[in-house]
Amino acid sequence: MTAPQIHRPRVLVVDDNEAFLDNLQELLGDAGYQVDIAMSCREARERAGVDFDVALVDLRLPDGDGTVLARELKEKVPEAEVVLLTGFATLETAVAAVRAGACAYLMKPCAPNELLLTLEQAMRQVRLHAEKRELARRAQVTEKLAAVGTMTAGLSHEIRNPLNAAALQLSVLERRVLKLSDELQPKLLEPLRLVRDEIRRLDHILEDFLQFARPREFRPEPVELKPLLRRVVDLLGGQADSRRVHLEVVSDGGASVPPVLGEEERLRQVLINLTINALEATPAEGTVRVSSGLNGDRVWITVDDSGPGVPPESRDRLFEPFFTTKAQGSGLGLSIVHAIVTQHDGTLEVGTSPEGGARFLLYLPVAR
Ligand SMILES: Nc1ncnc2c1ncn2[C@@H]1O[C@H](COP(=O)(O)OP(=O)(O)OP(=O)(O)O)[C@@H](O)[C@H]1O
Ligand SMILES: [Mg+2]
Repeated sequence: MTAPQIHRPRVLVVDDNEAFLDNLQELLGDAGYQVDIAMSCREARERAGVDFDVALVDLRLPDGDGTVLARELKEKVPEAEVVLLTGFATLETAVAAVRAGACAYLMKPCAPNELLLTLEQAMRQVRLHAEKRELARRAQVTEKLAAVGTMTAGLSHEIRNPLNAAALQLSVLERRVLKLSDELQPKLLEPLRLVRDEIRRLDHILEDFLQFARPREFRPEPVELKPLLRRVVDLLGGQADSRRVHLEVVSDGGASVPPVLGEEERLRQVLINLTINALEATPAEGTVRVSSGLNGDRVWITVDDSGPGVPPESRDRLFEPFFTTKAQGSGLGLSIVHAIVTQHDGTLEVGTSPEGGARFLLYLPVAR
């Protein structure tokens, strides 16, 4: 099993010369890029909706001007980069290229090395944009978390006390009902059970909130992954069975995964949250798979499911506190997961699983 990647860099090539396209497709494919092809401005506009990191655009296209298309593509996908290609270099075309927002300008025919180098530079630029966005997003999440923490500290106690009192009164009521005749009991016990379930749910939500309010000291130590993953899957096995979802743990080709540096309890919380989300997203007869392996000095864990996946428009908001699409969700699960993973100096990304559902990819440092 190779280390999973969320994205291969995508290049959109817009040119109407078939021989050149064939060449390029091979060259870029071998260099690890995912290549999309468009032979006209019209096709490029359609393809741009599929998303790309860098567009290689010929200046002269059968149905329009490459610089106009470059500007359009930059507007459509601002975090992507455009490289313009031309057969004739003039000062005017170079100026037009810069004006169109292109990051580079190449003369055809260009040497493969030069092309790959230019693409690499463009990709570096794309990654910088992505990092900047990620930092801004994290700052926003941190701000929200701080606000949640402050609010929680006060509110949780205020809610927990009456909640405990209510649970206590409920037990009294249950005991009294149990003394009634067998005929009366079921009718009264059923609604009581519902109230107890709701109180449990509220208590669970409060527990989630309190995670923010009690920032405990972080004491990392080596944690063996295999037994940890096993325990999580055992714990959630009942839930998987009742949903008729197949839940499995896969280890990287038998290679031993070294212990990670972290806190077992918190890592368990991370895995439980990700696995419960995956189970909740997966329809009956589907599969949730937890895999792990080693890549350099980092251990990776993926939680894959065969559900509908995460729509692109939600991806950026997933780790925000309170973001939920579930009627009964608090939307705190993934923000807690994100906070814990960051505390562990790890990373968490969301993508698509091989089954077409969601993939959550986690990297954690190895304990030395
Ligand atoms: N495996 C998944 N597949 C599809 N969507 C997912 C998956 N995991 C999370 N999501 C989306 O992310 C949202 C936020 O998840 P999060 O765990 O933070 O909150 P929640 O599950 O809605 O509520 P809670 O975890 O508090 O019960 C979910 O509502 C769902 O829309
Ligand atoms: Mg959740």
